Parts: sequence; structure tokens; C-alpha cells
Amino acid sequence: MRNPTNWLAVSLLVALVAGSHGIAKQAYPLPSESMEVLTTDPLFASDGVHCNAALSDWSRSDQPCCFPSSRNINTDINTQGGIIFFLHIPKTGGTTLRLNLEPYDHINYIFAKNYSIYSDTAPLVEDAILSGTSNKTVLFYEIHASTAPSFYQLRHRLRRWKDIATKNGVPTFFFTLLRDPTAYAFSHFNFFHVQRRNPTFEQCNATLDNFLRLTLFNPQCHFLFQGEWAMRVQKPKNKVLTTQECHVVQDYMLQLLDWIGTTERLSNDTLPLLSRLLNLPENHTWINHKVSKTAQGVNYFGKENVTEAVLEWIKHDMSLMDTGLYQMARDRYRYDAVH
Ligand SMILES: *[C@@H]1O[C@H](CO)[C@@H](O)[C@H](O)[C@H]1NC(C)=O
Ligand SMILES: *[C@@H]1O[C@H](CO)[C@@H](O)[C@H](O)[C@H]1NC(C)=O
Ligand SMILES: *[C@@H]1O[C@H](CO)[C@@H](O)[C@H](O)[C@H]1NC(C)=O
Ligand SMILES: *[C@@H]1O[C@H](CO)[C@@H](O)[C@H](O)[C@H]1NC(C)=O
Ligand SMILES: *[C@@H]1O[C@H](CO)[C@@H](O)[C@H](O)[C@H]1NC(C)=O
Ligand SMILES: *[C@@H]1O[C@H](CO)[C@@H](O)[C@H](O)[C@H]1NC(C)=O
Repeated sequence: MRNPTNWLAVSLLVALVAGSHGIAKQAYPLPSESMEVLTTDPLFASDGVHCNAALSDWSRSDQPCCFPSSRNINTDINTQGGIIFFLHIPKTGGTTLRLNLEPYDHINYIFAKNYSIYSDTAPLVEDAILSGTSNKTVLFYEIHASTAPSFYQLRHRLRRWKDIATKNGVPTFFFTLLRDPTAYAFSHFNFFHVQRRNPTFEQCNATLDNFLRLTLFNPQCHFLFQGEWAMRVQKPKNKVLTTQECHVVQDYMLQLLDWIGTTERLSNDTLPLLSRLLNLPENHTWINHKVSKTAQGVNYFGKENVTEAVLEWIKHDMSLMDTGLYQMARDRYRYDAVH
């Protein structure tokens, strides 16, 4: 063997180990066909009903919104309207938010899914930071995917939006969601590569070789820093992010975002928080619009299909920076129920 790169060496090793250990026996729960009430989704809190009940006391109460280990959240948006900025990292649960919120008349939901929509609609935010929104509506501005700017590219603009809105008494709430890096790796592979959901990603069968080849290096940090192009087939030149650059992104997140939720705790904290901020009706039920529908005959690749060695490889070789971000979110933005 002549001088393989570390990555190649590790993947070969992992492939060998995985091969010799075979594939796990446990049945993997297939994603549901269409819509499902959120609380039954294993992706989200398994005891969702219980924890939603505890939280809904708070989310419907008049108490100030209090997050002991993060900053206070301006809940005036609830009565005055204002601007919600949502940075949607792919595969973190953002589509569920959009599909649940778009139908409401008092929410002006803007989905900036590419650069041209972003540049056409950013003036709406520019107007709103100056004079507020009409009729107490909420301008819900989602940035996502393809050619839309990255969080890092938007940092100065976000700061200006926040500062000017604050000066003008316009309530704002800026947030994002992060996902457990191991869950992320499988979700990304299944959605973009196996399920043929997006023709601009390489389509392939769910095999270990393909999984090892297409698993991304710190995809969430790359998305935040460089945008979606850095999550397409990762050429070595796209893997240039250093730990230090990821720390820079993290610092901006802490400065500019009011909330960083996690996919795993979505129904425990982010959804009740949004219900409160958006004044959703008492009977609102969050429906999980799972986009990762499995087509008949298409295999689903999960933790159960790989060995411990592969899971270690995802964690230690491919996701250390993303794990750092994820832990920051979990530690600092953990919701402690107000009792
Ligand atoms: C993953 O494991 C499950 C359960 O053993 C199996 O049904 C499924 O076919 C496996 N998927 C692939 C792609 O091998
Ligand atoms: C959600 O909250 C409940 C009750 O506070 C807790 O027991 C559960 O572990 C939480 N779920 C997650 C995914 O953190
Ligand atoms: C951006 O998205 C919109 C809506 O899907 C589409 O009509 C438009 O062609 C896209 N623009 C570019 C440059 O891809
Ligand atoms: C605000 O709401 C009132 C009453 O519902 C309606 O008549 C008016 O057209 C609305 N204005 C705007 C700018 O949407
Ligand atoms: C996927 O597997 C099927 C059946 O084994 C095979 O016919 C097909 O060529 C494979 N597709 C790719 C892209 O490898
Ligand atoms: C919730 O309540 C409103 C008015 O009270 C009603 O119009 C609406 O149909 C209800 N929605 C659901 C999902 O029950």
C-alpha cells in the first residue's frame, strides 16, 4: 500500500471491520409514508406527549420566557408581531416547521431557498426592521439550501437587522436547529443519495461502501460557514474548514442567534417555544412532515446496518466540529421548565 491518505486508510479499515462483523440483526423502524403526529416519531422525543404537556403550561402562560442558561427571549413578538429569522440546515427538521406554519394568516412565511429568492425578499425584512410588520403579523424568514448565502456570509447583515429592529422597537427572534452528528450522517445519506430526492446529488444504493464514501466531513459546520455547495459531494478542497473556523462560526451563532435548538429535542423545546412566540391556537398540533419517505423497495440505511467501528469513525473522524457545535447548543440552550 503506498501512502494512502488518513481518511482512505480509516475507511478501508472501517470497511474491513464492518465486513467481518457483518450487519446488525435488529430491525430498523422504517420511516412512515406520509404525515405522522410528531410525538410518535422516534426522531423526536419518545415521551413527547408527557413533555409537551409540561412545557405547554409554560408556553401558554404569561410568565416571561426564561432560559436560565441562555439569554432571555423577547416574547413581545407574541403580541406585537415582528421578525423571525430561521437558518434551516438541511435534515434538521426545518421542513416540519415550514409546513406547519405556512397555513397561518398572521404568519408571512418567506422561504428563501435560493439566491434569487433571497435577494428578492430580503427587502421585506429591510422594511420590517424600520417600520415593523403590518397588523401584528410575523415575518418568518427562512434561509435554506442551494445558492442562498451561508450563515457566515450573512453575519453582518443579520447583526444590522437585529440592531436596527431593536432600535425601532421591532421584536426579533433569530434561531437555527442542529442535529446529532451520527443521526445526521444517516439522514443525509438516505435522503440525498438513496432516496433520489434531489437529482443534483449522486444517486446510489444503500451499501456500506457508498455510505463510507459519501458521508460528509462536519456537514453542519460546512453549511453554516460556506453554504450548501460545501455539502455536495465533498471534494478534498471543500474539506478545508479548520476547527478554528468552526469556532468563529460558533461565536457568531452565540452573538446573533436567540435560540439554537436541536432536532432531538424539537418537540421538547423549539416547538413549544414557537407556539408561544407565534401565538398559535390552543388546539394547534404540530404534525411531523417527514420528507424522508421511503419509496417501495428502496433500502434504508441506519445505525443498525453498521458496526461500532463505523459509528466511531463518524463521531471521531468525520464529526468532531459538528459535535462541538451540537454540544454547545445542548448545553447552552437547554430548556429548563419554569415551574
Ligand atoms: C439494514 O438493516 C435492516 C435490519 O437488519 C435490514 O432490513 C435492511 O435491509 C438493512 N439495510 C440495508 C441497506 O442493508
Ligand atoms: C423531554 O422532556 C422530558 C421531560 O422533561 C424528558 O424526560 C425527556 O428526556 C426529554 N426528551 C429529550 C429528547 O430530551
Ligand atoms: C429559485 O427558486 C424558485 C422557486 O422554486 C425558482 O422559480 C427559481 O428559478 C430559482 N432560481 C434559481 C436561480 O435557481
Ligand atoms: C389589517 O387588518 C384589517 C382588519 O382585519 C384589514 O381590514 C386590513 O386590510 C389589514 N391591513 C393590512 C395592511 O393587511
Ligand atoms: C442498485 O441495485 C440494483 C439492484 O441490485 C442494481 O440493478 C442497480 O444497478 C444499482 N444501482 C446503482 C446506481 O448502483
Ligand atoms: C381549532 O380551533 C379553531 C377555532 O376555535 C377552529 O376553527 C379550528 O378548526 C380548530 N382546529 C383544529 C385542528 O381542531
